[in-house]
Amino acid sequence: MPETLSGAELRQMREARNLDQQAFADLLNDALDRKYDKAKISRWETGAERVPQLVAQHLKATGGNPTAIPSVKAGPALVMAVINQKGGVAKTVSVVNIAHLLAEAGKRVLVIDCDAQGSATIHLGIYPADRDAEKLTLNHVLFHRAAIDQVIMSVCDGTIDLLPSSISLARADSEINHRPNGALILRAKIQEVKERYDFILLDCPPHLSQITVSALNASDLVLIPSQTETLSLMGIPLLLETLADVQALVNPALRVLGILPTLYDARRTQDRERLTDLEEMGRQNGFRVFPPVSRSVIYPKGVNDGRPALAIDPKAAGAESYQAVADALVDLCDAQRSDLKAKESTHA
Ligand SMILES: Nc1ncnc2c1ncn2[C@@H]1O[C@H](COP(=O)(O)OP(=O)(O)O)[C@@H](O)[C@H]1O
Ligand SMILES: [Mg+2]
Repeated sequence: MPETLSGAELRQMREARNLDQQAFADLLNDALDRKYDKAKISRWETGAERVPQLVAQHLKATGGNPTAIPSVKAGPALVMAVINQKGGVAKTVSVVNIAHLLAEAGKRVLVIDCDAQGSATIHLGIYPADRDAEKLTLNHVLFHRAAIDQVIMSVCDGTIDLLPSSISLARADSEINHRPNGALILRAKIQEVKERYDFILLDCPPHLSQITVSALNASDLVLIPSQTETLSLMGIPLLLETLADVQALVNPALRVLGILPTLYDARRTQDRERLTDLEEMGRQNGFRVFPPVSRSVIYPKGVNDGRPALAIDPKAAGAESYQAVADALVDLCDAQRSDLKAKESTHA
């Protein structure tokens, strides 16, 4: 059950400790590794914005005193690439909405925009050209020695972190080819921040290029969104070959979380037939096929507004499909954490 905390409760907790809004934000930032400020605390208290899950959970656990227990330890993150070499199958929309649901569940989430088109960056409300002008994009982290910490930014009211991208990433393939182990640079950079997050989601470009291979080299999991139409399905075998190459050469632990059918319209015969084909493909390859995400105008609206559609309307069509993916990820994360704890206690 998600924790909730009203603005009035939060204010009571702050005032009971005699803290002003900035001091309270500073304590939360220390405990939760966030970047909240006085204005943010004020918006929560007045009810202009909802208190994030992570904050509600932490304050409830500490009885309202952010310093009462040590900070909640995140990491190591589960890293998931969302890939399909076909464009327009809702990779970016899926990354953004799954990130939102994971953040709602109190998880610390980083989205890395691996596409030179910067669609995830735009969808999260950031203008790629501005970040490019400041030399603060993935391209600058990978090839120009920008510190990843300086480039990661907080978006969606502090609930999600973003490593933005811009058109300058278009040269990534030749950069990768010119460097020794170029396709492992992204993995090394992710390693630097892996302990700080529960999940890192990689939004991949619509081609099986070196940057996509770099994302696969760096990932634990792959999610394959596929539209329920013929051309989308036809690309999946090639994608699976690429996955097998990456598993054989660099990353044997890479696993497929599942296929996510997207842009589904149950009234169309073709969509229903292709969904059956996808389910068959899932059975043959031993992959889970998630419930299909229905079409809804809320998704393009979310892109347009620069925020996740499910933040605008949590009950939108398709919400339960994205929730199924988020739940599967949380289950895996919890299982990984209890394995780690068990290992630590046997070594203690
Ligand atoms: N469930 C949906 N219903 C309607 N439109 C959608 C849905 N999901 C995505 N879209 C729209 O489809 C287009 C492609 O989505 P996008 O996530 O950018 O795909 P990709 O990243 O695979 O290229 C965008 O205009 C997006 O707003
Ligand atoms: Mg995209």
